[in-house]
Amino acid sequence: MSLKFEEIYKNSLKNPQKFWEEISKDIFWYKKPSKILNKSNPPFYKWFEDGITNTCYNALDVHIQNGLGDKTALIYDSPITNTKSKFTFLNLRQKVARFAWALKNQGVNKGDRVIIYMPMIPEAVMAMLACGRIGAIHSVVFGGFAANELASRIDDSKAKILVTASCGFEPGRTIEYKPLVDKALEIAKHKPEKIILYQREGHEVNLNNITEISWEDALKDAQEINCVEMNANDFAYILYTSGTTGIPKGIVRDIGGHIVALKWTMKNIYNINQDDVWWSASDIGWIVGHSYIVYAPLFKGCTTVLFEGKPVGTPDAGVFWRIISEHKIKSLFTAPTAFRAIKKEDPEGKFFSKYDLSCFKSLFLAGERADPDTLKWAESLLKVPVIDHWWQTETSWAISSNCTGIEMKKTKYGSACMPVPGYDVKVLKADKSEAKENEMGDIVVKLPLPPGTFPTLWNADERYKKTYMSNYEGYYQTYDAGHIDEDGYVWIMSRTDDIINVAGHRLSTGAIEEVLSEHKSVAECAVLGIADKLKGQLPIGLLALKSGVKQTNEEIIKECIQMVRNKVGPVAAFKIAIIVKRLPKTRSGKILRGTIRKIADKEEYKMPATIDDPAILDEIKQDLINNNILK
Ligand code: COA
Ligand code: AMP
Repeated sequence: MSLKFEEIYKNSLKNPQKFWEEISKDIFWYKKPSKILNKSNPPFYKWFEDGITNTCYNALDVHIQNGLGDKTALIYDSPITNTKSKFTFLNLRQKVARFAWALKNQGVNKGDRVIIYMPMIPEAVMAMLACGRIGAIHSVVFGGFAANELASRIDDSKAKILVTASCGFEPGRTIEYKPLVDKALEIAKHKPEKIILYQREGHEVNLNNITEISWEDALKDAQEINCVEMNANDFAYILYTSGTTGIPKGIVRDIGGHIVALKWTMKNIYNINQDDVWWSASDIGWIVGHSYIVYAPLFKGCTTVLFEGKPVGTPDAGVFWRIISEHKIKSLFTAPTAFRAIKKEDPEGKFFSKYDLSCFKSLFLAGERADPDTLKWAESLLKVPVIDHWWQTETSWAISSNCTGIEMKKTKYGSACMPVPGYDVKVLKADKSEAKENEMGDIVVKLPLPPGTFPTLWNADERYKKTYMSNYEGYYQTYDAGHIDEDGYVWIMSRTDDIINVAGHRLSTGAIEEVLSEHKSVAECAVLGIADKLKGQLPIGLLALKSGVKQTNEEIIKECIQMVRNKVGPVAAFKIAIIVKRLPKTRSGKILRGTIRKIADKEEYKMPATIDDPAILDEIKQDLINNNILK
């Protein structure tokens, strides 16, 4: 008889070594690990430390070895360019193995970093897997980030090679990557040795010197090369994410734990088998894209879909249904904002009724809190379970979810269900005591974290320890706040730092403030995320000006908005800034961002005891009303 959820969960915490040792047998190892968990140097835990394996082998070769070479591994569906293609495991391995040769031919070795700054095209997936094949560490940078952000990632990772494409497409505009790359290289102190650029048909660009090579030229004389043997604790990738300051944090992923955990999640969380077709509508620049467009489905040996488009406007709000029905997709994973966008365009589901979705069995949402209205709307339209689950770039897989492949739990609207096996989730209060049922506090996870989570930050062990593992000793601090209810359901209510979530994209208000402070007329500023019906949150900037400023308010606001677009990127969606006389602060000078946000969102707030001048809050309220932010 198979074990029920509670029993599996209990086992995973009672004896994590035994639990994960058993699961680790399901992946390919050149040498099986004999040491499962090294706990000798907390908070730096090591999973499977003497195991030898390879990411790419587990994503492709192992399935070919098992007779699945002719099965479709990747479906590329790009409504924005009207292109579709399919790759079998054999096709994909051939392309990956040749590009791995090209990288090696350009001098990339085991442990070298490769930046991938590409749109959602199959070559981006190939580049990621090719890095894994030769043991290089990739760092994918989301296309919606500006040159500055790309430069900071080049500098921090000291990448040897940068792989890019001639352009990407957003509805109504073409994103030229080459000028962005050129600018980033101008800003960066570290210079990658070579740029490999994929020329998109009809959008070829000039390459100007011997350090720039086209993808095609890089493949001249290429041979298919084999996977290299890697230690389980070597790094597969660095994915930079927003921190509390403008300096992004390099989340690293080790190889062995990543394969073991992600493969396990496909069946146990998502109920996906090898024969199924799976789709994650995200971008490979985010963690959801890393884990669930590329790695987990390929480790499982099922078919994954790479979608270059938007939920609406490419060409219409029916594109998700067209793709699900055409490719016979069993489950979809996306962010709630995508469904809010579809609901806004097609509230009655007129497009939906045009397609046969009998293949479709479940929808998973994450990246931001799934508001109950959207979740219920999706449920009534799709007539399948809609599951909100909670996770972070740091963990790479869900911390709490309905584990549908183990046992389907009932839905509680607004909750991300229960902690997943491997995660001992607690709610702690500021005095470090454990919160009672339904009592709010900081959500933490007892150490050690399970395999596949982040063992450290790139070149920043101290920052890892200080940021995540120090406030509550023995626990990982998630920086999310919420509660656990009487049935053990986890409710994620807000961030406790200055991270905001805009259309499922994680952004640091601190990073935006750093840019605004550089404006010559701005004395000080505050950026906060206010509630938005479509994107969940939107950043707004409050600018207090220097005295004697000659520019008009309109000019300053326009320049500030442009500066954020140029320095952080369009993805920041920073379009609202207002001029205020003063900013409310505590007596020690800390800006009361949380209180301003509550005023803007019409939430109740207490007058902070430490406020310097309470009258400023009334001024701010009036400014928000005058600017139509508070209605
Ligand atoms: N390259 C360049 N620019 C990009 C980009 C990319 N890869 N992705 C987004 N942008 C730009 C957009 O064009 C937009 O620019 P604009 O201000 O000129 O219009 C800006 O960044 C903001 O993008 P976005 O927040 O995506 O807003 P949108 O209005 O274009 O689309 C949604 C809204 C809801 C349709 C869209 O966010 C979406 O599909 N979300 C799905 C969820 C998702 O992918 N989540 C990721 C984590 S799971
Ligand atoms: P990212 O690292 O980009 O995946 O963002 C992680 C953050 O997104 C989390 O720390 C949460 O604040 C938020 N988040 C992700 N999933 C959920 C969810 N299901 N419910 C509430 N918040 C979520």
